[in-house]
Amino acid sequence: MTYAAFKSIGAYIPPKIMTNADFEKIIDTSDEWITKRTGIKERRISEENEASSDLGAKAAQVAIERAGINKEDIDLVICATVTPDYLCMPSTACLIASKLGLPPVMAYDISAACTGFVYATAVAKAFIESGMKKNVLIIGAETYSSILDYTDRGTCFIFGDGAGAAIISVTNNKDEAIIDVNCSSDGNYEDLIKTPGGGSKHPCSQEVLDSKMACIKMKGNETFKLAVRTLTSDVETMMKKHNLTSKDINHFIPHQANRRIITAVGKALEMTEEQTVVTVDKYGNTSAASIPMAMNYAYEQGRIKAGDTVLFDAFGGGLTWGSALFRFAPKK
Ligand SMILES: CC(C)(COP(=O)(O)OP(=O)(O)OC[C@H]1O[C@@H](n2cnc3c(N)ncnc32)[C@H](O)[C@@H]1OP(=O)(O)O)[C@@H](O)C(=O)NCCC(=O)NCCS
Repeated sequence: MTYAAFKSIGAYIPPKIMTNADFEKIIDTSDEWITKRTGIKERRISEENEASSDLGAKAAQVAIERAGINKEDIDLVICATVTPDYLCMPSTACLIASKLGLPPVMAYDISAACTGFVYATAVAKAFIESGMKKNVLIIGAETYSSILDYTDRGTCFIFGDGAGAAIISVTNNKDEAIIDVNCSSDGNYEDLIKTPGGGSKHPCSQEVLDSKMACIKMKGNETFKLAVRTLTSDVETMMKKHNLTSKDINHFIPHQANRRIITAVGKALEMTEEQTVVTVDKYGNTSAASIPMAMNYAYEQGRIKAGDTVLFDAFGGGLTWGSALFRFAPKK
């Protein structure tokens, strides 16, 4: 029997910082309001000429080096993003593969908003367990600054840019295998978080540009309530299925959307502050990059070690949601 093991984590954190004080200059808000409602103090913004593939390639480079594999051995590249370099083609994964100098390889994008990295983990696991692939590079890369309306004070301060990546490889050792990934969606909630224009429903036009329909629109308050409920029930289902309690988890890594959501979900699931990884104060919500950037942060702090049990919990536009349970299996 072959299994899939989570071998490495890496990230790229763009150096340019946008603080709450910077938002005070462009919208009617305050550092105090943003901090109290979201816990966000600052977020990272990519350079003008930097696209998601640039951030993703830099994160992937770190993940590849830490996994100790040759680039030539990567046989699948999956990029989770809703801010691709190009609306239709080529995919951001194709561009990342070429920026990394990989030989021709299967590469494609996943569009599952903030749940994208968990979806990518599920797909990598399935490809490996089926015997089709051996070393999968998964990436979450986002440049939300390219789809934000910086006059929309209910949304623009929440999101940031960044990328995270991981190598998932084949193993025969069940003890280091990814235990389970569960993903789902419900398109009935399409209007909660949406970029209404620029796609086939409302193709790009002067009206789409003038009305900023190609920017993200979010019903924050309704999203908040659903996020708390879904993130909690998602993990409860996973834990029950595997007969686990919160004490069996070393690192709980929820999607980083809002500190109040993380606190409410952590409390409902009885996860301690020490178990829970939080980066939303530093990076804001980086969508598909949020979970791998948070995991990389904890890894670089020396908190995550070989054999530790890690639990991802994600929620995002679609709506989509998902959780992944695994033991971290880095190169010895
Ligand atoms: C966006 C969010 C921070 C707003 O907080 P909230 O407590 O729900 O605030 P509301 O939208 O109910 O607005 C409350 C008041 O604050 C005001 N407000 C909104 N944005 C503001 C801002 N940036 N600064 C100051 N005041 C603001 C509103 O106009 C409203 O004023 P009113 O009561 O006079 O009408 C919060 O809803 C949130 O984080 N939602 C989840 C978002 C999320 O997780 N999205 C991604 C999921 S993947």
